[in-house]
Amino acid sequence: MNAADRRNFLRRFTALAGVAAATPFFASAQGKSLLKSFERLQDQSPENTVTDETFWYQIKQAYTVSPNIINLNNGGVSPQPKVVQEAVERYNRLSNETPSYYMWRTLDEGREPLRRNLAALAGCSPEELAINRNSSEALETIIFGLRLNAGDEVVLTKQDYPNMINAWKQREKRDGVVLKWISFDFPMDDKAAIVKGFTDAFTPKTKVVHVTHMINWNGQILPAKEIAQEAHKRGIEVLVDGAHTFAHFQYTLPELECDYYGTSLHKWLCAPFGSGLLYVKKDKIKNLYPLFAAGDPESDNIRKFENLGTRSFAIEQGIGVAIDFHHMIGAERKELRLHYLKNYWAERVLDLPNVHLHTPLSKDWSGAIGLLGIDGKKPGEVGAHLFSAHKIHSTTIEWENIHGVRLTPNVYTTTRDLDVLVKAIRDYARA
Ligand SMILES: Cc1ncc(COP(=O)(O)O)c(C=O)c1O
Repeated sequence: MNAADRRNFLRRFTALAGVAAATPFFASAQGKSLLKSFERLQDQSPENTVTDETFWYQIKQAYTVSPNIINLNNGGVSPQPKVVQEAVERYNRLSNETPSYYMWRTLDEGREPLRRNLAALAGCSPEELAINRNSSEALETIIFGLRLNAGDEVVLTKQDYPNMINAWKQREKRDGVVLKWISFDFPMDDKAAIVKGFTDAFTPKTKVVHVTHMINWNGQILPAKEIAQEAHKRGIEVLVDGAHTFAHFQYTLPELECDYYGTSLHKWLCAPFGSGLLYVKKDKIKNLYPLFAAGDPESDNIRKFENLGTRSFAIEQGIGVAIDFHHMIGAERKELRLHYLKNYWAERVLDLPNVHLHTPLSKDWSGAIGLLGIDGKKPGEVGAHLFSAHKIHSTTIEWENIHGVRLTPNVYTTTRDLDVLVKAIRDYARA
């Protein structure tokens, strides 16, 4: 850790120690011991802490996860650390004292500071970020808000997320936009081949390309920036589905060079369930219609996308605490640990000839998500066995040309949990 990193770390640590008194978790013995652990780590690089199980075991204590189920479906949705749960409960109780007063005159005041915090995390201007409820809402705002005419072409892949595919199909049916499908044989680690897959589908009629930054089915990362660069050379707008990458690994939204982006915060940021964000590049805001009508739908103010009506302000304000928790772990430390956990189990089973990983191992192309296949076993059988015999919760993937059991750890997963998984896979594959 260099001097600047150490200063940042200490600043974050001191800030957290300051709030300790206000949050039951940090006032508890578990919370205090976690803070002590951070003191111990001050002089260590993120690389060194990746394998420090004592530290990660304490991170686990910051959650309320069941000790009886090993949850390896964090790809679906992630649990919140206790501090986030406590904040949501606190804000909710406050809201219930006098809802219209505390929601619209008190908690509402927190939205602009939250926007700035989120923008700092995303590396963009707060004037380009709208806060909403999930990736589906953010991405459908884009898909239904774009000014497309009959005959305009949209390039997308068969491996994109179903909600997004359905939204595009609805536009095809209603407005006559033409969907140009491409399909990949993942896993892939050939950047040029992936980019070419997209560029080969571009024609003079292409107006938009839809890029899923990390394929949810198997955790494959796509080179969003390089696809965006090729698209922009041809005047094509770029929409990125960042549901699985935000706060999973480090990047800024401007680095992706996309025009539109949506993500959920209840996945890798571990924010309250039902929290998300929409990014629209400043000069694109004016022409994108909001999904929920605004006074001036052609305004260039990003807040026109936030006319969602009454919703849970407690959930929204809980996002800020999740951002603090993310910074407390440290984005780099978290990124390294997440990738380490996937490779930890995968590398301990891949010597078996009938076991396959349908996800790249390298850090350039993958993070925490791994898709397991066992020859001669249906994914559903493997998933059912893992749960019934070992209480390992996973999800079965059967989508287009992608089949397997998806296993997704998170920061609270310990290698002890993964040792149970490794033994379970080895015994089952050998049987
Ligand atoms: C790639 C991708 N896009 C979009 C979504 C939708 O996310 P949400 O259900 O939070 O709206 C998901 C959910 O898993 C996803 O994996």
